[in-house]
Amino acid sequence: MIIAPSLLAADFGRFSHETERASRAKADWLHLDIMDGHFVPNISFGPEVVRVIRPLTKMTFDVHLMCSRPEILLEPFAKAGADRMTVHVELAEQVTPLLWKVRSLGAKVGLAVNPPTSIATVRPYLSHIDLLLVMTVNPGFGGQSFIHEMLPKIQQAAAWRRELGLKYRIEVDGGINLETAIECARAGADTFVSGTALFRQRQLGRAVHKMREAVAAAHRVQEPV
Ligand code: DX5
Ligand code: ZN
Repeated sequence: MIIAPSLLAADFGRFSHETERASRAKADWLHLDIMDGHFVPNISFGPEVVRVIRPLTKMTFDVHLMCSRPEILLEPFAKAGADRMTVHVELAEQVTPLLWKVRSLGAKVGLAVNPPTSIATVRPYLSHIDLLLVMTVNPGFGGQSFIHEMLPKIQQAAAWRRELGLKYRIEVDGGINLETAIECARAGADTFVSGTALFRQRQLGRAVHKMREAVAAAHRVQEPV
């Protein structure tokens, strides 16, 4: 079980301090939301922020590219210290070359699917990815409510993983708190991005630990499709 606090919910005036706080909290990954003001109606931060915080921690940097033209950003983020990079399936015919490009840069390959997009769209790519990100809010902003209708998508992703004998992680992102994380774990998720519900806690270490324990217990009683 992987717990990945999202830096989007951290104090933007203190990225270094917040990175060290997540690291001390023993978070597994740091989730980095990259927004271009085009694919989503918001702008976050770029490779320079990643480069600056990279030396502060050994945590895996999980870069989520909510961008219309990720091809121009993959190399800068890889150089800045991204360990994993996720692009969106909504980019259609661009997806295959993007996945190969991520792989060629030595990063783990992720593919994300937005709430209105059918889970069937990711099916052709499953054997080429390390992680499938099922968005549980419409991307662009932190602090939104979890969309429960996404749970069957997680179950489908888990069913395909079993049937096809694949090993991709199933990550969920958006509105994840202790309760919704448990629901996702029961559906088959194993990687949990959480912004507001984690970074806004005074005792981040305790919150990370609690979420990890809760999802581990829930995962054991996974509900098949
Ligand atoms: C949504 C981002 C998320 C966001 C989650 O556009 O992809 O990673 O930071 O934030 P919370 O947990 O506050 O919904
Ligand atoms: Zn994200």
